Amino acid sequence: MSIELDFIKEMFDSIAPKYDFLNRFLSAGQDILWRKEMVLGAELPNQSIVLDVACGTCDVALEVKKQQGDGATVFATDFSPGMLALGKRKILKHEEGATIHLVSGNALALPFKESRFDAVFIAFGIRNIMDRQSAVASFYRVLKPGGTLAVLELTSPPKGFFRDIYLLYFKRLLPAIGTVLSKNAGAYHYLPESVLNFPNPREFASTLRQSGFEMVKWKVMTLGIVTLFIGKKASAL
Ligand SMILES: C[S@@+](CC[C@H](N)C(=O)[O-])C[C@H]1O[C@@H](n2cnc3c(N)ncnc32)[C@H](O)[C@@H]1O
Repeated sequence: MSIELDFIKEMFDSIAPKYDFLNRFLSAGQDILWRKEMVLGAELPNQSIVLDVACGTCDVALEVKKQQGDGATVFATDFSPGMLALGKRKILKHEEGATIHLVSGNALALPFKESRFDAVFIAFGIRNIMDRQSAVASFYRVLKPGGTLAVLELTSPPKGFFRDIYLLYFKRLLPAIGTVLSKNAGAYHYLPESVLNFPNPREFASTLRQSGFEMVKWKVMTLGIVTLFIGKKASAL
């Protein structure tokens, strides 16, 4: 594995025990609503097979089960053993989580055969992967023809008063709080840096199209701090 992937994996392993708490706290609970919107936005067919990539502690996988119940077979994958261990503990606490299949895997080389899934989700994960084009190609490979990709990511709000206030919070306050609570100075300084380096929605949509995704659209949420992207793999002829 590359140095860059090792760095990301070790960082998530180290913050894993505090990850859920900090997510809820730093987003004031909004992260739950964002994932809910994401799953709704995928408009899953009944009896779908779904993959949650970079699943972390399995919040997206659990949201799919909550919305679809037995109507969805859910797989969840991540490369951080620390996050997966917490994910496993969490799904076992929920009745609907017991049937989620957890698989250790790298988003750049997904351990699944071609055309397996009706939908692939990735929430707050793609920004941590430098080679986004390869990751998106890997999502395309495992989707069935006509399948849906849903990507949820933190983005930078457009220029204006709100952006100034938000950047003050995001670049100054959030790293300070995150460092104290997670006891990991690097991770919560890396967070704003990775968000500010993430392309704008138009550019990321173009990355999706370059991998073959069609009908690509995006929805800006919470004044631009989060964006949901949806794309479809071309249907078989
Ligand atoms: C910010 S967390 C998001 C977790 C979860 N999806 C959520 O909604 O809270 C990012 C996750 O991506 C995982 N990740 C980053 N790069 C990855 C890669 N190349 N392959 C697999 N997982 C990766 C990390 O281990 C971490 O669990």
